[in-house]
Amino acid sequence: MTVAGEAVRRRALERGPVAADAVIEEALYGEAGFYASGGGAGRGRDFLTSPEVGPLFGAVVARALDGWWEELEQVDPFVVVEGGAGAGALARAVLAADPSCAGALRWVCVERSARLRAAAETALVTEPTTQVIGGRGAGPVVAVTSDLPTGPFVGAVIANELLDNLPPVIMERTEGGWSEVRVDENLQEMLTPAPGLDAAATRLAPAAPTGARVPLVRGATRWVQEARSLLEVGPVVCFDYGTRTTAELATRPMTEWLRTYRAHGRGGGWLNDLGEQDITCDVPADQLGADEVLPQGEWLRQHGIDELADEARRRWDEGAHRGDLAAIKARSRVNEAAALTDPAGLGGFLVHIWR
Ligand SMILES: C[S@@+](CC[C@H](N)C(=O)[O-])C[C@H]1O[C@@H](n2cnc3c(N)ncnc32)[C@H](O)[C@@H]1O
Repeated sequence: MTVAGEAVRRRALERGPVAADAVIEEALYGEAGFYASGGGAGRGRDFLTSPEVGPLFGAVVARALDGWWEELEQVDPFVVVEGGAGAGALARAVLAADPSCAGALRWVCVERSARLRAAAETALVTEPTTQVIGGRGAGPVVAVTSDLPTGPFVGAVIANELLDNLPPVIMERTEGGWSEVRVDENLQEMLTPAPGLDAAATRLAPAAPTGARVPLVRGATRWVQEARSLLEVGPVVCFDYGTRTTAELATRPMTEWLRTYRAHGRGGGWLNDLGEQDITCDVPADQLGADEVLPQGEWLRQHGIDELADEARRRWDEGAHRGDLAAIKARSRVNEAAALTDPAGLGGFLVHIWR
């Protein structure tokens, strides 16, 4: 049994069956958890995310930032907090795109894994967090921290593929109502009554048949609430995979919406090799209650991805015969645009926006 598995087993023996969200918490963020051990996004790690595909996603985010900064009358400092920043790929790409707001920009990478924070600090020129908020025109200034900073501030909070990694409670529809999925000392699933959660599951998936399961993404809703409370003015924008409604998830087997990944492939069952694979849950938009929810492809188009791709296509057409570095970079930007907007892939992810 893995070290994280042992930790869950001990807890079950001491205190009784462990709730699914606590098991996932241990598997991802415990001492021997997947993220604590250095797993995560990136070509050399376990899976690719939009910022890890290449710099184009960050270039579009840089354009969006400029739009928000204009709406905020070029406020300085313009504080952008990135939740679940991983090894800092998004911050790097945004800075490389040299947005107009750069001089005002204070970018705070918030990352729970110490190993990934260290990787972000190596990849970026960073300052101690205490210096992030002060000084007009001193940007861009980047800091890396383990927790959300203290607000309020004017700017934006963004997160790519964070919410799917915040452990969900798992509920199963039974004859008499709903039960909660827990895990015993043999790392086997079991159901226990959960009167406090029954009403929420019924409201979200009223027609679910016996045996159907749904996630209650309470960790994600708490994180969003906290993020919103940081901002005096400015948007919270979260990119993630998922569905519009919890009821949609109730129609699918749990293995489709609670998935595992390791070394650029799908992993095993969620209770296999605890701590050695990522465990991730599709995010149901109806539980988050954003002001606006739209597909990632559409959001990227609103913020100019087509212009950036057309420009790259022109550079490729002009330079293809030379095959120089600029032409090859342009070519890969065209491919990136296609991947980021593909409705069957990253383009089908949802963007949740709170204004
Ligand atoms: C799927 S990865 C995404 C990383 C990066 N945003 C990207 O798109 O490549 C999720 C990241 O969120 C981090 N994380 C999870 N919970 C967190 C929290 N409460 N605060 C900050 N980071 C968190 C994990 O350690 C992990 O690095």
